[in-house]
Amino acid sequence: MITPEDIERLIRPELKAMKAYTPIEPTDILSQHIDIPQEKVIKLDGNENPYGCSAMVKQALADCAHYHLYPDPEQRELRKALEEYTGISSKYILAGSGSDELIDLVLRLFIEPGDSVIDCPPTFGMYTFSTDVCGGKVVSIPRKQDFSIAVAAIKEAINRQTKVIFIASPNNPSGNITSKQTILELLNSSIVVVIDEAYFEFSGVTVAPLVSKYSNLIVLRTFSKWAGLAGLRVGYGIFPINMVKYLMKIKQPYNVNTAAQVAALESLKDMSYLRGTINAIIDERDRMLTKLSQLDWLRVYPSQSNFILCSVLNGKAKTIHKGLQNKGIFVRYFDTPQLKDCLRISVGKPEHTDALIAALNEIC
Ligand SMILES: Cc1ncc(COP(=O)(O)O)c(C=O)c1O
Repeated sequence: MITPEDIERLIRPELKAMKAYTPIEPTDILSQHIDIPQEKVIKLDGNENPYGCSAMVKQALADCAHYHLYPDPEQRELRKALEEYTGISSKYILAGSGSDELIDLVLRLFIEPGDSVIDCPPTFGMYTFSTDVCGGKVVSIPRKQDFSIAVAAIKEAINRQTKVIFIASPNNPSGNITSKQTILELLNSSIVVVIDEAYFEFSGVTVAPLVSKYSNLIVLRTFSKWAGLAGLRVGYGIFPINMVKYLMKIKQPYNVNTAAQVAALESLKDMSYLRGTINAIIDERDRMLTKLSQLDWLRVYPSQSNFILCSVLNGKAKTIHKGLQNKGIFVRYFDTPQLKDCLRISVGKPEHTDALIAALNEIC
């Protein structure tokens, strides 16, 4: 009889060796960790939208009569609505189960074992994760001290194995954007350039209109952040038309479930509410930045996103992270070569910022 050890031997060795992604925990689990009621938890670790989704989304989800049927595999209604939202023809658009799925699909389309993918750390961890799962190799070209990307080093690193580069703009966790000029320089190379605009609605800066002019440019977006739909998993990409054809072919047929499609469609119908929450988050980001900058033991980085990166100058980031946790405030802690003693704090409601600042003053 085959044993668990035999099965272990069948598993791809590179997957055994790969580093697991560190996801964030849901509020109920966080509240159990610290024995604080769930409703008291202040969750500033996932760049989620503290105002939640539109009330119209909740109503449409309650009213939907089609959960027993498979969703439209071609996502026609959603892609048409996205055409209106983006101003780009639906022929260029494909939706995914979160932009995470689209990152994975792009890599599955281009990466064979031995191929390489460039990322620019510190950045979003899913680029490495999905490259590893596809059997590709990640070539990391670290960002400069101001978190801008090192274009000359990237160009030098490109060789025949290089297929794809990922640039998050705004970047997670640094919050800065990459200029159109820099992206144009990268587009002149022979590789696929993925600009991940997960936080576009908070920066207002996009290169999406360039997709129809460059056959190697992809722009990824999500409903997780601005629309408050992180739990429903819906993102989309703007791709050169010939890539849409192949992505449509290799994706799971019903990759965006009915609830996600209904919620995304309804969000796009309630832009006045959602623009209000985006503006509230942007205003609060600027207020939080001012408040955090008043703490002389923090270095605060400007952000065009819905989170703020801070480096803790007294070396106590871990203690502060833990101290905040004990008070029910969850933020993201980093201690990597590029992010020594750093905290990334999502922008919440004004009362969350006030609680955060009070807690930081008490801890330090
Ligand atoms: C830069 C970036 N891209 C993509 C994602 C994933 O978004 P989604 O929820 O659509 O999978 C995130 C989530 O934190 C992110 O920070």
